[in-house]
Amino acid sequence: MLVQVYNLMAHAFVLFLLFSYIISTHIHACKQTERSSLLSFASTLSSSPLNWTSIDCCRWKGITCDQDGWVTRLLLPSKGLKGGISPFALANLTHLNLSHNSLYGSLETQFFLSLNQLEILDLSYNHLSGELPLSLPSSSIRTVDLSSNHFFGAIPSSFFQQASNLTSFNVNNNTFTGYVPSSICLHYSHSLRLLDFSSNLFNGDLAPGLGKCSELQVFRASHNNLSGLLPEDIYNATKLEEIALPFNSLHGAISDKIVNLTNLAILDLSFNHFGGELPLNLGKLSKLKFVTFDFNNLEGALPPSLMNCTNLVELHLGNNNLEGDISMLDFSRLSQLTKLDLRVNNFTGEVPVSLYSCRSLKAIGLAKNHLKGQIQAEILSLKSLSFLSLGGNRFTKLTWAMKILMSIKSLHTLSLAGSYEGEGMPSDDDMVDFDGFHNLRVLNLADSNLNGQIPLWISKLKNLEILQLSFNQITGPIPSWLGTLPRLFYIDLSNNRISGEFPKKLCRLPRLLYGLNIASQAYQYEFELPIYGSSSVAPFQIFPTHKLSFFPKTIVLSKNNIVGDIPTEIGQLQLLQELYLDSNNFSGIIPDQISNLKNLEVLDLSTNHLSGKIPLSLASLNFLKEFNVSYNNLEGSIPTSTQLQSFEASAFEGNPKLCGAPLPNKCKPNKGIDADNKNNKDVHNGLHQLPWFYIFVALGFLVGFLGVCGSLIINKTWRYTYFRFIDNVQEGLEARYLYY
Ligand SMILES: *[C@@H]1O[C@H](CO)[C@@H](O)[C@H](O)[C@H]1NC(C)=O
Ligand SMILES: *[C@@H]1O[C@H](CO)[C@@H](O)[C@H](O)[C@H]1NC(C)=O
Ligand SMILES: *[C@@H]1O[C@H](CO)[C@@H](O)[C@H](O)[C@H]1NC(C)=O
Ligand SMILES: *[C@@H]1O[C@H](CO)[C@@H](O)[C@H](O)[C@H]1NC(C)=O
Ligand SMILES: *[C@@H]1O[C@H](CO)[C@@H](O)[C@H](O)[C@H]1NC(C)=O
Repeated sequence: MLVQVYNLMAHAFVLFLLFSYIISTHIHACKQTERSSLLSFASTLSSSPLNWTSIDCCRWKGITCDQDGWVTRLLLPSKGLKGGISPFALANLTHLNLSHNSLYGSLETQFFLSLNQLEILDLSYNHLSGELPLSLPSSSIRTVDLSSNHFFGAIPSSFFQQASNLTSFNVNNNTFTGYVPSSICLHYSHSLRLLDFSSNLFNGDLAPGLGKCSELQVFRASHNNLSGLLPEDIYNATKLEEIALPFNSLHGAISDKIVNLTNLAILDLSFNHFGGELPLNLGKLSKLKFVTFDFNNLEGALPPSLMNCTNLVELHLGNNNLEGDISMLDFSRLSQLTKLDLRVNNFTGEVPVSLYSCRSLKAIGLAKNHLKGQIQAEILSLKSLSFLSLGGNRFTKLTWAMKILMSIKSLHTLSLAGSYEGEGMPSDDDMVDFDGFHNLRVLNLADSNLNGQIPLWISKLKNLEILQLSFNQITGPIPSWLGTLPRLFYIDLSNNRISGEFPKKLCRLPRLLYGLNIASQAYQYEFELPIYGSSSVAPFQIFPTHKLSFFPKTIVLSKNNIVGDIPTEIGQLQLLQELYLDSNNFSGIIPDQISNLKNLEVLDLSTNHLSGKIPLSLASLNFLKEFNVSYNNLEGSIPTSTQLQSFEASAFEGNPKLCGAPLPNKCKPNKGIDADNKNNKDVHNGLHQLPWFYIFVALGFLVGFLGVCGSLIINKTWRYTYFRFIDNVQEGLEARYLYY
């Protein structure tokens, strides 16, 4: 009996526990108003992967509630959400993270209206647009990330009014205009740690104020239209670890006061108009790791104190007017240094041997200075050296250099162009038992008036992708083994004295054959130092790239003494983008097979002895942007109603027997056509066919136009229709891709 009572009591107790559990979870379950607010958000999504169906919204994916059933967190980053964003009525929400979705719409004042507990707001990587509301929603807000959207307009001065705990504000990659609100620091000086205004359309001067941000660690405003001087008070923000302002129009000298920023690790002021000398005491910034001043107007010598920055990882000072004897500098303490870029300056002297004690070095760029001397064998201690650019200097003993450098296993890119004036091409006799350059992808020995022939040892460079030998005195034929190099896709042999015929084997170059091209990772090589280029989209703008893949697939044989026919086999090089055969002694006809080169963007056959007609099929080369057949013996009419008419007359001139638009001389009426024209029936038929032909052409243009515009819009930043490498802005865009 007693046992039964106990049993009953135990059961009752368990039941009690169960009930209290149910009751308590019921209490913790979400509020109806919160649930409907969430559902109304979900309902505006066009494709909702959210499975928000159960009663208790606190258990839904991405939702966190507090004890009382108020929603405090809504975290749905990268959930593939698509659709318009709508205001939430979630009064206790502290964390809102909808980053990396496809939400559109704007943040009207309403959106913020009820979010007055919000601490974290992350809407980055969506398609949101419109102007910002007048003010942030809450005084507790700490983090605001609106980066990578389409917001525009000025940031209202009242925006930060009540945000006294703001620590991080990121609007990178939008289209904001007006001033960078540096006055933000006047109010919230003690909390701000990160400000990122990069990649917008902010303009005008950087107003003083940042100096008041006593805790500011990161300040970024790259890729804007900022002008004027760097405000002096920035040097009061002594907690700064990173200043990144590249791609603006800032000018003036870098103040000595920079030594106040003792925490500075990253300083990127590249692509501006900064002038004057580098502060002598820059070396006092012992935490400096990444220093980038490329493309400014800096003058004077490198401050020796810089060699005290033993934490330096990258030093980029390319494209300035810096000078001085670099052999005086002692690099031996820079044991962390991986990249040194002093390209395009006025440095003199020899390469200091102390540089070779920087064992971490991966990239050395010294091209286009006034350096002299020889490569020293000590360079072999750089076991990670991958990128070596020494072109455009006055070094001597090329063969000696090559025999040393070939043992650097890590070497991918070697440019010695324009440095060994008048010496001999390292011959097979010089390089007996050649075994080296195992990983070399880019070999540039251009512009040195080197004499001799193209040596056989190059055929052993199985990883070679780019061979640049232009502007030398190379004689002899084009070796047919070139066509067997498995990765080669860019050959420039122009401006030499090469003779013989175009080898048919070159038409089997594996990398240029359709179908055999492996788009494998192996080809995704990135240069350790940027290469500079321009594109047809914005030909006068310089932009850096690290990508080897930006080089077009190219064969340049211009200005040599090559004879014979253009082989019909050339039609096999279906991936070829640029073909320059101009200023040689090619004869015979233009082979119809060239029209197989569907990717061709440049075809220059000018100044040869080509005869016959221009094949009609060339009109099918849709990507052709440069075309030149001038100064040959071509005849007949230029194929009409094709894009060939869109090229200038100078592309056809110097062919006395060639006629028709765009040339001024009209073709003599063809008797056959005349006879046809007398036949009314045919005229009638012709009239019927004519509009369709034009409609077809017009449609073609429209589709092409939309295609180009569409991809421009999609990419937002750039689309390179063709890409030109340049090494020196001052010398203009013509001095292209010689020195890197
Ligand atoms: C949605 O949630 C319900 C209840 O939680 C579950 O039964 C169902 O399998 C879920 N559906 C999907 C597609 O996840
Ligand atoms: C938002 O979520 C993403 C993905 O989990 C995360 O990387 C990011 O840091 C979050 N944002 C904030 C401000 O915490
Ligand atoms: C700001 O942060 C401090 C410290 O975390 C906190 O005590 C204070 O309540 C916060 N102020 C607001 C308005 O949230
Ligand atoms: C480099 O640092 C040492 C010791 O910290 C100092 O004595 C020397 O003057 C510094 N050199 C330069 C050029 O600033
Ligand atoms: C074609 O080549 C000739 C000879 O080099 C040159 O004078 C002319 O400007 C070129 N025309 C075009 C459109 O490129």
